Amino acid sequence: MLIAGIATLLLLFLLLALARPSWGGRATPMQGALPPGPTPLPLLGNLLQLGSGRLDHALMELSGRWGPVFTVRLGPRPAVILCGYAALRDALVLQADTFSGRGAMTVFERFTRGNGILFSNGQRWRTLRNFAVGALKEFGLGTRTVEERVLEETACLLGAPFDPRRLLDNAVSNVICFVVFGSRYGYQDPEFLKLLDLFSENFRIMSSRWGEMYNIFPSILHWLPGPHHRIFRNFAELRVFISEQIQRHRQTRQPGEPRDFIDCFLDQMDQVHKDSERHFQEETLVMTTHNLFFGGTETTSNTLRYGLLILLKYPEVAAKVQAELDAVVGRMRAPSLEDRGRLPYTNAVLHEIQRFISVVPLGLPRALTPDTHLHGHFLPKGTFVIPLLVSAHRDPTQFKDPDSFNPRNFLNNEGEFQSNDAFTPFALGKRMCLGAGLARSEIFLFFTAILQRFCLLPVGSPTNLDLTPQCTSLGNMPPAFQLRLVTL
Ligand code: HEM
Repeated sequence: MLIAGIATLLLLFLLLALARPSWGGRATPMQGALPPGPTPLPLLGNLLQLGSGRLDHALMELSGRWGPVFTVRLGPRPAVILCGYAALRDALVLQADTFSGRGAMTVFERFTRGNGILFSNGQRWRTLRNFAVGALKEFGLGTRTVEERVLEETACLLGAPFDPRRLLDNAVSNVICFVVFGSRYGYQDPEFLKLLDLFSENFRIMSSRWGEMYNIFPSILHWLPGPHHRIFRNFAELRVFISEQIQRHRQTRQPGEPRDFIDCFLDQMDQVHKDSERHFQEETLVMTTHNLFFGGTETTSNTLRYGLLILLKYPEVAAKVQAELDAVVGRMRAPSLEDRGRLPYTNAVLHEIQRFISVVPLGLPRALTPDTHLHGHFLPKGTFVIPLLVSAHRDPTQFKDPDSFNPRNFLNNEGEFQSNDAFTPFALGKRMCLGAGLARSEIFLFFTAILQRFCLLPVGSPTNLDLTPQCTSLGNMPPAFQLRLVTL
């Protein structure tokens, strides 16, 4: 309905031709034909064919007719869609450099201006990504420190009643706070609660139709009232918050003795002689810090929340995880990352949760760095590409009965854990999520700590629990639900 209303408004604007090439604002150099796809209407492109339901499902349906590599027009702008595991692998892995550019999204473009890791390109992106990977390793990712952090936060979760949304957001954000700011916040701290509200509201609006439409028709939506305007107010507040944190760090730091990610970046800024291209500037630090929060909080906490909802719906699966935890870990100590290899069923359930929910269903857009060919199609440099990650997870050539939740997708006949290359919640290739290791550790540690001690009970009947996501496109969020934890 909303999309139909917006479409009518857009038609009124048609004569004024306000729209310019968008979902990014950067023009895509188009030489030659792109892969075929449904016939577009002027200005609206294929929006009406994509319908008013879920964009990811509509694109998968179109792939049935147009194949794994096809073009749709989101408004005036063409986007090449990669659908199914084979197309994603052939592009993102087998042509990793070619597909490593980031496709612009207006909503982020206006805030980041191509700065930070998520939305930069070329040498700046390479330099910042390498720096961040190194700095994050130093401050906990991939080491026992993360285990300690997650366990500290889990301890705060335990104790009914349990509000999954707020508490899980707090816990997950605190892990990133520790890495970036060097400290955690109390769950009642008003500064912290404000920070979380800003991030989660932005994620929600960006994942809504308003966010989708803003990316497609920025110059029209700019003049229409709606929640999308809050995105930019929230961004401005986040910028102030992060800048204040940086100032506090400046006042208390010992150069050369970094306590956290911000100190590490400030140390790098001191070495101006090595930074001839000026990649290490305060504005870049603000954007990079924002990227780590934005990339690392909603994605992880949505996964945890969705996972709890799925386990409420399938209590027999939760019971099997608990039996495995009892047998392997017992109740005298907390589960640790070292236990993961000895918990095949639990590991399979966590993979299946991530597969089933596809928390970032459309991935993040890529842009081609040189011209290339893919599956017999010529694709010019700059082509805007949508890697439809959910399509790998729903690919019937890779998973049996892919629309159902079934942990056997990640178990062999002997009941051992079995990975699957089509498991791609973090995307593939050179731009793959740089927090994947941290996220997987968090997901494992939070789930096992909760399930080791508690039985999950839904408020209401488990058969009535709806697993349909609340918002789609940027992120799949679980519908609101309540649960009670009862000590085992
Ligand atoms: C369940 C949790 C998570 C999921 C599902 C997820 C998923 C993704 C996806 C799909 C991308 C886009 C990759 C591409 O361009 O194709 C991405 C990028 C990124 N993620 Fe994550 N992520 C998660 C957790 C995290 C965490 C914990 C952090 C921070 C430590 C993080 C930081 C980033 C950053 C900085 C990028 C940009 C990488 C680049 O452009 O080079 N993510 N993530």
